[in-house]
Amino acid sequence: MKTATADGMVIDEPQTEETTAKPAVKLAVETHARATSVAKESKIYIDGKFYSEKDAKVSVFDHGLLYGDGIFEGIRFYNGRVFRLEEHLARLWDSARSICLEIPMSMREMTAALLETIRQNNLREGYIRLLVTRGVGNLGLNPEQCKRPSVIIIATTVTLYPESVYQSGLTVVTCATRRTNPGALNPAVKSLNYLNNVMARIEGSLAGADEALMLNDAGNVAECTADNVFIIKRGQIFTPPITAGALRGITRSVIFEIAAELGMKVAEADITRHDVFIADECFLTGTAAEVIPVIKADGRPIGNGKPGPISARIIARFRQLTRETGTPIYN
Ligand SMILES: Cc1ncc(COP(=O)(O)O)c(C=O)c1O
Repeated sequence: MKTATADGMVIDEPQTEETTAKPAVKLAVETHARATSVAKESKIYIDGKFYSEKDAKVSVFDHGLLYGDGIFEGIRFYNGRVFRLEEHLARLWDSARSICLEIPMSMREMTAALLETIRQNNLREGYIRLLVTRGVGNLGLNPEQCKRPSVIIIATTVTLYPESVYQSGLTVVTCATRRTNPGALNPAVKSLNYLNNVMARIEGSLAGADEALMLNDAGNVAECTADNVFIIKRGQIFTPPITAGALRGITRSVIFEIAAELGMKVAEADITRHDVFIADECFLTGTAAEVIPVIKADGRPIGNGKPGPISARIIARFRQLTRETGTPIYN
């Protein structure tokens, strides 16, 4: 049964479906359980309508599926507010421009759809996955065949790592898979083509680490599979520049702000594995992972092998910002 909301969006009656699908590859080690469960009885937005999970489907001819041709954002909301929404939408529009994809709505309409999706799911804390696919075409890869991009918004609850890991820290290994060369596909575009990151993630898991450190073609650190990397040495904070193959992370930019508040500067500089090994502290940043300390890289303890004091201050301030700032969802 369908019902219409005040602003004209159509909602299907909620239905949930138990998934029985098993992963094709069972990874040898998953050291910390990761969870991004879709909210119970979730309603998923596709092109202006809400569907139950069971009925939320895209065409097999969508080039997002056929070619990874599309873009996405992962966005968090905390305490009834969406964190850094404008920055996420600005990056989405930048990704779209870069791949010549015209988002079929304005930023204001996107904001309304996103907030309505959260409201439809009655959530105050969670994670939004926002996708714009190239849309339905034929089997040829020419995007000119795709007449209209599709917009999909999924609201979920998320706990990527248990709280204990924020206290104890993560382990990382360097993976053999290099971050995509910007000359081939610029990692600054948050595209639906994440196979490069998926391969690195598999390597990290097979090696028994929590995350995989990805190097660029020059052998410098680019980022982790879905997180930016920061190190601290003698009180100075360093992170790879975007030109090293890092995504211009929204959480990364928040760290720049927090560092300034704390009277510290973040230097964007090429970082080698050696720099990571000899760092006093290291942490990763990402919307899903938030700000999380790293205590071991390729078997070497970082600093004294425990999360460092500067990281702890940054994490505390980050958490405060997430709870106190953002675009209100319900008012
Ligand atoms: C490859 C990659 N790097 C870094 C990040 C961190 O970016 P943000 O802080 O905007 O989530 C992400 C997550 O979106 C990512 O997928």
